[in-house]
Amino acid sequence: SSSEKAEAMVPDMSKRLFLNYVLLGTASLPVFYMISKYLSFFFPASSGNPDVTIARDRLGNEIKKDDFIRTRNPGTRELVQGPKGDPYYLIISENGELLSYSLDSVCTHLGCVVPWETGENQFICHCHGSHYDSTGKVVRGPAPLPLALAHVDVDEKGNIVFKTWKEKDFRTGSNPWWT
Ligand code: FES
Repeated sequence: SSSEKAEAMVPDMSKRLFLNYVLLGTASLPVFYMISKYLSFFFPASSGNPDVTIARDRLGNEIKKDDFIRTRNPGTRELVQGPKGDPYYLIISENGELLSYSLDSVCTHLGCVVPWETGENQFICHCHGSHYDSTGKVVRGPAPLPLALAHVDVDEKGNIVFKTWKEKDFRTGSNPWWT
């Protein structure tokens, strides 16, 4: 009879439903993982502290301090993604230490990215010729202000992080113009 058929189907039905849940569950894990990765790219401050920004390379990966120092030469000035998405210079001193401050590469005149000129020992903006010394202080205009500063630190995972520089500007003795 049809009621016998219906009873016989019940175990099958529930088994299929169960399998569906299992499949859905295992499929959702990678999806959930990808979504959280995707979101963390746009909201990288995992600490939740707006004064802390994780340094990222061109591909958006975090940068381990030890790896960074081991694979670069002393005197390196390298652009990485910094606070507010600006390219910031991480600087390795002549004795191989990561400097405790970083410079925003955005020219304070009209916003070009300022390259480091090793031969001149200066940052020289190719847009209108501003010069900054190795600490980012203006040597020649039209740039009106020194390059913005950020503190460089390391988080608990060994990644390089930037922290907002709120103290006086050590190059000029003035309050920071960038906060
Ligand atoms: Fe750098 Fe004008 S934007 S000198």
